[in-house]
Amino acid sequence: MTAARVGIIGGSGLYQMDELTDAHWEQIDSPFGAPSDALLCGRLGGQEVAFLPRHGRGHRVPPTDLNVRANIDVLKRAGCTQILSFTAVGSLREELPPGTFTVIDQYIDRTFARTKTFFGPGFTAHVSMADPVCGRLGDLVTESARKLSIPNHRGGTYVVMEGPQFSTRAESELYRSWGASIIGMTAMPEAKLAREAEMCFVTIAMVTDYDCWHVGHEAVTAQRVAEVMTENVTRARSLIRDVVPRLGEHRTLCERGCHTALEGAVMTAPEA
Ligand code: ADE
Repeated sequence: MTAARVGIIGGSGLYQMDELTDAHWEQIDSPFGAPSDALLCGRLGGQEVAFLPRHGRGHRVPPTDLNVRANIDVLKRAGCTQILSFTAVGSLREELPPGTFTVIDQYIDRTFARTKTFFGPGFTAHVSMADPVCGRLGDLVTESARKLSIPNHRGGTYVVMEGPQFSTRAESELYRSWGASIIGMTAMPEAKLAREAEMCFVTIAMVTDYDCWHVGHEAVTAQRVAEVMTENVTRARSLIRDVVPRLGEHRTLCERGCHTALEGAVMTAPEA
């Protein structure tokens, strides 16, 4: 049996993991089709790790075209029980400036062109998404960010938009009026599918810009995102080096119940 691994999904700018020892790319097949890339597997501080560049090396896959089912499935097949998911986001709040690592605890899913479940047709399950983030992972990531003096914020709501265009100013203001904290294009359906796969999951949302609502800042551009991501990636790497070795004691049982998400969720009757 494969040792329990920590899965790391790297967002824009994070395509490699030089800190892994015995690093090698593993191609894992999935019945859900092709994942974004092979998995970079290795060890970090005594912990087995499998790293997936979300958009593929070279940033080839746009958000809508991500085969998220295959991405989560190959991490599960690789033996991962917990996922740290790094992603670039825009800020909808003055107090979350570029450079802030936000460990959010809620999502508003506004995506509409993505496959969001492993189940059906012919099989129905409804998992709870009331608390969509593993609180244990959120605690550990926040502790590391504080220890490393990475500007960070715990809690808040991530609006996931379809993209690939950025929001209009009216949309940005609408999401602010809803009380949302940050906006991005990738955390859903990742969080939903990780829950269906009974895996611990946390989004580490790295702020790159103030979207387009802030009168004192220019509207977001892809170039601006890439510039700020370079600094964020350096911080993400130190966070990974600190937090991953501390995830080791966790194997398959999550004290918050992530590993039993399907209990009571299945509606389809067992075959007679
Ligand atoms: N990713 C980084 N910044 C973003 C923004 N403002 N909107 C959506 N996705 C983003």
